[in-house]
Amino acid sequence: MKMSVIGTGYLGATHAACMAELGHEVVGVDVDENKINQLADGVVPFHEPGLPEILRRNLDTGRLSFSTDYADAAGAHVHFIGVGTPQERGSYAADLKYVHAAVDTLVPLLEGEHLIVGKSTVPVGTAEELQERVDALAGPGTTVEIVWNPEFLRESHGVEDTIHPDRIVVGLRAGSAAEPILREVYAAQLAEDIPFLVMDLATAELVKVAANAFLATKISFINAVAEVCEASGGDVTRLADAIGHDDRIGRKFLGAGLGFGGGCLPKDIRAFMARAGELGADQALSFLREVDSINMRQRDRMVHFAKEDLGGSVMGRRVTVLGAAFKANSDDVRDSPALNIAGQLSLAGAAVSVYDPQAMGNARRVFPTLDYADSLDEALAGAELVILATEWPQFREMDPVGCGQLVAVKRIIDGRNVLDVDAWQAAGWSIRALGRSL
Ligand code: UDX
Repeated sequence: MKMSVIGTGYLGATHAACMAELGHEVVGVDVDENKINQLADGVVPFHEPGLPEILRRNLDTGRLSFSTDYADAAGAHVHFIGVGTPQERGSYAADLKYVHAAVDTLVPLLEGEHLIVGKSTVPVGTAEELQERVDALAGPGTTVEIVWNPEFLRESHGVEDTIHPDRIVVGLRAGSAAEPILREVYAAQLAEDIPFLVMDLATAELVKVAANAFLATKISFINAVAEVCEASGGDVTRLADAIGHDDRIGRKFLGAGLGFGGGCLPKDIRAFMARAGELGADQALSFLREVDSINMRQRDRMVHFAKEDLGGSVMGRRVTVLGAAFKANSDDVRDSPALNIAGQLSLAGAAVSVYDPQAMGNARRVFPTLDYADSLDEALAGAELVILATEWPQFREMDPVGCGQLVAVKRIIDGRNVLDVDAWQAAGWSIRALGRSL
């Protein structure tokens, strides 16, 4: 099937390459010339395991191409919208300017019957509003239908989550005839018996934000309990293991520590609250304010711990922050807890050295004044305090004996609860972790 994917960021580029991998003929369109040139050359402009191979393979077959010209999308009849919906400046709401720009540019170029399949995370009601917008823009004799098909991919698992998703959710307006087309798009997944859930537009839009709000709530729940564990001498990791055995609860997303960041969870819970407020249901989601503030508090608590460990002030002290990405196996630093604490410590006067296996380039662009080390060893050299802030395997697997020979003082805070405490203590380290009394 011929299709276009508008927006080639983490979501769109992955979706475009994976659709081609499944046998479709796909053109990816973006206004960012630099990004398009890289993708067309077989270079993924961000770190996503497995994607470079799929990108190159499908460019070679000719099934996948990239363009900055929307006219190249007009030959397809199915168009995915995968542009960003960032938090609006000065408010909690989602900014829809990229979604609007995408349809405003695409629709006047279309002739005949087309389907626009929204994948971006949007406030409930957007699809209906977009339908009115495209109806006004479509030329005579052209029909363009908006459907919503939220994307649940996790960065760093994008390929797997696109090719073998847990479920496919499709929102359609009453009387829509689009379902068979979407079944053809996802024929490979349907052959695997992946649940295909058809619903109205509003519900499909809400499914995505509700899923992210639930995940965020789960993380903040365990981080709130972590604070009580610290106050009472408990251990949040053992607690999470124990409650996680109950399959109504489950152990996933009960990793206590520095909390969630990235381009999705923080802005999605805020946009969900903002939209509920517009709809007159603000009380319903007021708990998400608390979820947000518990999450942000973990960053402040970490900075407080660092100060406490260094005798009350970090001024002039050498602190190593391991990690800049918002999570492991990603180079994304958007709203990254790791970069946030590195920045706070630096602003408080610490000499902060940061190392991340993949996110150094992005981190430098966002926070150019920090000191970036070229390697883990260089980052550790002379440190008076080490903070593990992103759960990269390279940091989880550090050898406490070897690391002990590099630092000035063997003192570490595990911000992700991933280190083997006994091994680090046995090697002479003083180790502290969020949510545990060690
Ligand atoms: C999330 C959703 O998982 C995905 O379904 C949606 O499509 C987009 O948003 P992503 O932002 O890629 O995906 O990251 P995710 O793997 O969910 O992690 C989010 C954050 O939570 C990271 O900062 C991670 O470090 C943190 N986290 C995760 C915890 O602090 N504890 C946990 O137990 C799990």
